Amino acid sequence: MKFEKKDILDIESLSRDEIGLILDTADSLKEISSRAIKKVPTLRGKTIVHFFHESSTRTRTSFEIAAKRLSGDTVSISASTSSIVKGETLADTARNLEAMNPDAIILRHKAAGTPHMLARLVKSSVINAGDGMHAHPTQALLDMMTIRERKGRLDGLNIVIAGDIAHSRVARSNIVGFTKMGARVSLVGPPTMIPQGIETLGASASYDIKEAIGDADIIMMLRIQKERQESFLFPSDREYARYFGLTAETLATAKDDVLIMHPGPINRGVEIAPEVADGPYSVILEQVANGVAVRMAILYLLLGGPR
Ligand code: CP
Repeated sequence: MKFEKKDILDIESLSRDEIGLILDTADSLKEISSRAIKKVPTLRGKTIVHFFHESSTRTRTSFEIAAKRLSGDTVSISASTSSIVKGETLADTARNLEAMNPDAIILRHKAAGTPHMLARLVKSSVINAGDGMHAHPTQALLDMMTIRERKGRLDGLNIVIAGDIAHSRVARSNIVGFTKMGARVSLVGPPTMIPQGIETLGASASYDIKEAIGDADIIMMLRIQKERQESFLFPSDREYARYFGLTAETLATAKDDVLIMHPGPINRGVEIAPEVADGPYSVILEQVANGVAVRMAILYLLLGGPR
């Protein structure tokens, strides 16, 4: 199957076959990262701009590592060091970047829809590295890769996503991706953090974490996104941890082969106890490792050959 897309903007616009192709490609590229010389010439001569308007550790670093492992040339700019601080608009910034003829622009932005706007303005491939509360497609793809690697499939699995669903682009992209690949998704959290109508994406919602996780093959915990909340949605972190945090005690009701996931950054002792984050069921650092492989696959499929 040929990959015909110009951009990766959200999971909605990827078919089941395209997701399968990205995951298969990531599986085959993963071993490059364990070689003594972690580099192949696939993207030699290609220029990739990383344009991050919001902070990031995992996404930014893994995109840069992915591009370098494929021999692409990388350039990084951030909002605080770009001429956006002098009043330049995103559209003008995009036109100026385009004039330098990059092959791909990887954009993280606090406003939903910004990567979609950029993709309409430039000929380069645009990859959404997270836009506001809307989408984080490469996170969803690395999460699917991690589950497929551990469980052999997504089809038929029960996946619980717990926490601040309302402000989570990871939750939105994962609900769409997991259900597209045949998994059942249940959401759990305080009523103030589960948006009305989220069921239209194909997930069910409930409010008791102990009950919700009993049948789960996967439990994905989410951080409370205080930077996106306009008012307090829970009295205190201590109370949140008590009622919605995943602890060793809460986990006692879960299946023996359950996997614990978290997109990071984690807030230890709030949504997840340290002994769970570092415990035997946790695949949190496997998610991070697979982030490099998935981003290598995306860059390879978008830039590695004629479209
Ligand atoms: N998961 C994720 O997007 O992490 P960063 O914000 O550190 O990139």
